[in-house]
Amino acid sequence: MLRDLDPHSDFIGRHIGPSQADQAAMLAAIGAPDLHSLIQEVVPSSILKRGALNLPASRSEAGALADLKQLASRNQVFRNYIGQGYYGTHVPNVILRNILESPAWYTAYTPYQPEISQGRLEALLNYQTMVADLAGLDIANASLLDEGTAAAEAMTLARRGSRSKSKVFFASVHCHPQTLEVLRTRASGLDIEVQVGDEAQGLPDCFGVLLQYPHSLGGVSDYRALTEAAHAQGAIVAVATDLLALALLAAPGEWGADIAVGSAQRFGVPMGFGGPHAGFMACKDSFKRNMPGRLVGVSKDSQGAPALRLALQTREQHIRREKATSNICTAQVLLAIMAGMYAVWHGPAGIKRIAERVAYLTAFLRSSLLGLGYSVASKDYFDTLLLDTGKHTQAVIQAAESASINLRKVGAEQIAVSLDETVTVEDIHALLAVFAQAIGKTWDASAQHALPAEHGIPSSVQRQSAILTHPVFSRIQSETDMLRYLRGLADKDLALDRTMIPLGSCTMKLNATAEMIPITWPEFGQIHPFAPTAQTGGYTELIDRLSAALCEITGYDSVSLQPNSGAQGEYAGLLAIRGYHHANGQHQRNVCLIPASAHGTNPASAHLAGMDVVVVASDENGNVDVEDLKAKIAQVGDRLAALMITYPSTHGVFETAVTDICALVHEAGGQVYLDGANMNAMVGLAQPGKFGSDVSHLNLHKTFCIPHGGGGPGVGPIAVRSHLAPYLPAVLDASGSLPADAHVGPVAAAPYGSASILPISYMYIAMMGAEGLLAATETAILNANYIATRLSSYYPILYAGPNGRVAHECILDIRPIKDTCGISNEDIAKRLVDYGFHAPTMSFPVAGTLMVEPTESEGLAELDRFIDAMIAIRAEIAQVENGEVDAQDNVLCNAPHTAQMLLATEWHHDYTREAAAYPLASLRDSKYWPPVARVDNAYGDRNLVCSCPPMEAYESDAGQALESSATA
Ligand SMILES: Cc1ncc(COP(=O)(O)O)c(C=O)c1O
Repeated sequence: MLRDLDPHSDFIGRHIGPSQADQAAMLAAIGAPDLHSLIQEVVPSSILKRGALNLPASRSEAGALADLKQLASRNQVFRNYIGQGYYGTHVPNVILRNILESPAWYTAYTPYQPEISQGRLEALLNYQTMVADLAGLDIANASLLDEGTAAAEAMTLARRGSRSKSKVFFASVHCHPQTLEVLRTRASGLDIEVQVGDEAQGLPDCFGVLLQYPHSLGGVSDYRALTEAAHAQGAIVAVATDLLALALLAAPGEWGADIAVGSAQRFGVPMGFGGPHAGFMACKDSFKRNMPGRLVGVSKDSQGAPALRLALQTREQHIRREKATSNICTAQVLLAIMAGMYAVWHGPAGIKRIAERVAYLTAFLRSSLLGLGYSVASKDYFDTLLLDTGKHTQAVIQAAESASINLRKVGAEQIAVSLDETVTVEDIHALLAVFAQAIGKTWDASAQHALPAEHGIPSSVQRQSAILTHPVFSRIQSETDMLRYLRGLADKDLALDRTMIPLGSCTMKLNATAEMIPITWPEFGQIHPFAPTAQTGGYTELIDRLSAALCEITGYDSVSLQPNSGAQGEYAGLLAIRGYHHANGQHQRNVCLIPASAHGTNPASAHLAGMDVVVVASDENGNVDVEDLKAKIAQVGDRLAALMITYPSTHGVFETAVTDICALVHEAGGQVYLDGANMNAMVGLAQPGKFGSDVSHLNLHKTFCIPHGGGGPGVGPIAVRSHLAPYLPAVLDASGSLPADAHVGPVAAAPYGSASILPISYMYIAMMGAEGLLAATETAILNANYIATRLSSYYPILYAGPNGRVAHECILDIRPIKDTCGISNEDIAKRLVDYGFHAPTMSFPVAGTLMVEPTESEGLAELDRFIDAMIAIRAEIAQVENGEVDAQDNVLCNAPHTAQMLLATEWHHDYTREAAAYPLASLRDSKYWPPVARVDNAYGDRNLVCSCPPMEAYESDAGQALESSATA
């Protein structure tokens, strides 16, 4: 056919690793006649989808990009003065090209394996140091999801830290409206009453307070006395603040705030219709062990050299499960790194200059508006002015619109204007011309305009302390310096651009370049989340099309793209279930059944949604123990709200009883939440919305190709059957307010969460089409079975389905090895670094195991390279087992080996340097050298240091310098 001349399906073969010939060889190796038969063996026929997905045919890269460009052109890029937590910013080009557009950064995984993550850990430590410094607080974490959810996390942190018995959390009326709505949603499940008021009228009895500094509409208050009063009544003071303003404003920590939160967006991250951006949190030292999210800390490696790693890992929901006070897992690492590097790039003087420029331009705008006859409500301000425009309001808005300018309309008679670093003098003239025109005057841009003598920050709250004092923020002078710094950090790390990342449950597949290209188009990047809907037609269409495709793929009826991580999706899905039960008068239904093997975010999300968790056992095959499920259903009776299961299971198996399990729950009046993190094994093959589930979240940052970014961003949409659709998270209107008919509030600050990365998943689906998506799923299953079969005689495969096959991942059981010779899954994981690999998932869902998920994107050569490494490691283990080598001093226990270790003049080990560094001949060609040896986690937790150590710590006498800084 003529259409065959069009390369419409070429992308499929680029996304999927093994060629047809390789697939045939792999099928032969595992003893399956063909792919179709393998799938029949793996997927229970009761859920197998008949017929193809009803999606458009695959498109070529060029065709899909052209289509998307046309769609993007329906977004209108206006000059934005809306503010409200989102501002124009210049992404420094050196950061744009070398971080945001660099696969070395965006294809990395969360730095759980610190030895291969030192580059991004250092970048995150810069970010933490920057946030703590600007906030004037002791410690900052490595990012949260956005300002609204960071405020909600501050509320729960305050609850834990407060001595007050009150259930009330006071939030200032000056907070951004979307923050207040997110707070209310979060409070609803936690028996917290959010009281919104004007703090100037005094505080109620409360356990915590949230202030906004500067106010959403511009004011700047001196909060010292209020903070003292709050502390006197046992309340914790949290403040939502703005990093750029803090260059000029007294730091919250200096006036007594306990917690500071906010968004780092305006530090070089595009608005992107609301996200993704890094939310931040800093707090006093006394809160550190309860702080949500990940925290990078300084420790040392086995050689005593400084080494970074995630600190206090026991804080993560994985350990606390239903006792967790936060469910955050995937955060906003890539965006936090960009923001931290923005500070490195500009340095303290540069950041201060930007802040002053904004502040003085705002002052100039204010005096000019007064000169035109406008009444300006703001007396103290940083970058935002509130104007009493009265009867001229509509005329101003219309004149602005004709000049492609967006202002923030506040009720019928006020307008707010927020400036940012991209605003030029010319822009100010254009803005003043609009205001003049609206009242029938003219603005003379050519006149000599004097700079105002002062900006609008009152002297009582001006910052006296220096900012960004650590040398890391002052050492970059030129772009050459910056380029080399970024390259040097990236070179320390293993990301997907160097090796497969076979992390079970994480689906580290190709993030194709064509998928990434649209995210930096201005039509997507420069849209304010609260821009008038008339300007965002492209986004609306993109969201509609993507939602429709996800409904078709999952078999559900409606989708919300708002949740900005998988865990946030879980939370939103459980709120939908809760809303549904409440609407049916079933308020007592508040128990969530969760299998023992579930990901830690499941029970944590259930807890945050106000549900009690009851654990269901797994049977010896790793499946839900149906008898135990029946017993638990009977036990909880009419309190059953939901069952939360992961499918295929976290054990890597399609359990055959899934439809019966769903029926049992429905018969008892419960709803089924199916965790869709493993959707990569089902796209095109099975639809959870059709085989019994009521709601699922998807991880677009797994199955649908959004890169993991070193630990975020993510998108965790929820898909629901129609009866739950009314309970999807509310979409705030252009003023940031809740629609009157909303049943459930928003779970994220921006109406569509991390909207600017949706083009990635859209492109993936468009380029793959129905046939490509199905082929991807089938190949993911083939690849996992190929690894399982080839490794099964070396390492027991813990769980398999009835036909002895696994789904899209498999668990290698290392416990018997540990029992016989002491070599652990961690030793193997670290030894894999010497072989140039990122380790598989360690100890999830079963302690002492390794879970391998190759994904469809890895080709046969890479699979074989991994298998060869694992087989070679098994031989190394055998030498320990049979006593040929020492049980402690061997290549496994000492792994990974740095160049420094191997080049030491003295060599005291029984094995050779060659055996350590080049266990396979192929490694001589291309060798990854880890920058640090095995990291000592316990040392770092005992001596917690979570900001950049003094520079000497990185110099030659490294260990010692670190020792003194760490214990200081
Ligand atoms: C099974 C499962 N559920 C939920 C999640 C949480 O997703 P996220 O990290 O995006 O919050 C994960 C993440 O790894 C997962 O593997």
